[in-house]
Amino acid sequence: MKMDLYVMKFGGNAIRGKEAMMRLCREIAQMRSQGAKVILVHGGGPEISAEMERRGMQPKKVAGIRITDPETLDVTEKVLSDLNKDVVGCLIEAGVDAIGMPGYHCAMFVKKPPMKVVEDGEEKEVDVGLVGEVSECDPTSLMDLLEQDIVPVIYPIGKDKDGRRLNVNADTMVAGIAASVPCKEMLAITDVPGILMDVNDPNSKLDRVTLEEIDDLIAKGVISGGMVPKVEACRKAILAGVGTVRMVNGTDPECIVADVMKEGSLRGTVIVR
Ligand SMILES: Nc1ncnc2c1ncn2[C@@H]1O[C@H](COP(=O)(O)OP(=O)(O)OP(=O)(O)O)[C@@H](O)[C@H]1O
Ligand SMILES: [Mg+2]
Repeated sequence: MKMDLYVMKFGGNAIRGKEAMMRLCREIAQMRSQGAKVILVHGGGPEISAEMERRGMQPKKVAGIRITDPETLDVTEKVLSDLNKDVVGCLIEAGVDAIGMPGYHCAMFVKKPPMKVVEDGEEKEVDVGLVGEVSECDPTSLMDLLEQDIVPVIYPIGKDKDGRRLNVNADTMVAGIAASVPCKEMLAITDVPGILMDVNDPNSKLDRVTLEEIDDLIAKGVISGGMVPKVEACRKAILAGVGTVRMVNGTDPECIVADVMKEGSLRGTVIVR
């Protein structure tokens, strides 16, 4: 099937509340009316942290990855599946047929090995707990839904081969999917205009960045926190042959994603080999 497939992911800071969600959903409706097919993945970082705090738990992240014990996983799954219903509801309200599902309905996962992180100038190994990485993605059911003009809406909870549930970073999830489907463009919708040379200066956006430049920006600490798994996800998608990989600002009052269908659009940061 010939199609212009856009695989998109948004986080909780980028699209916060019903109004923002409806705005994104209307843009997706517009893209579909221009012939695009869409797979949507969502995170929910701030919502998960807020719910943990409400329950007296302390959210902890290293290099953008949430340290996940069994209790954290329970909260994460509950918050993400609730959010998933809201996203599907908004798409339907915008006239887009959609079906929600957890990541384990279309992919297989393995527990993430301990991560090497630098803390206070010292390299350490940190076990982040019940966190998963995509090991395999079966695009069959996703492609079936797309053919029926339905948008799959995926929340990043995985399972390993023994059925053990794992928390998956939404950027990691979207890259696993984008890498396994005939994807024209992968879009990471976040709460900044793109990769910034100075996180506090929205005018310092890079329009285009190479993988080599990304390595350098991570080493220099210009790219940090949640931006690290995001650029790693972009790297995976590019190496898997995804046509265009881009980061855009979900809080942009003008336009979030619809513009990217224009040839040569300079929206956000495009990551290239
Ligand atoms: N060089 C950089 N340019 C832009 N943002 C950066 C940079 N370095 C670090 N960041 C941080 O990365 C954040 C985006 O990642 P974050 O994980 O917080 O959000 P998200 O992935 O969009 O949402 P979620 O984690 O809920 O799915 C930005 O808000 C910014 O604070
Ligand atoms: Mg993130």
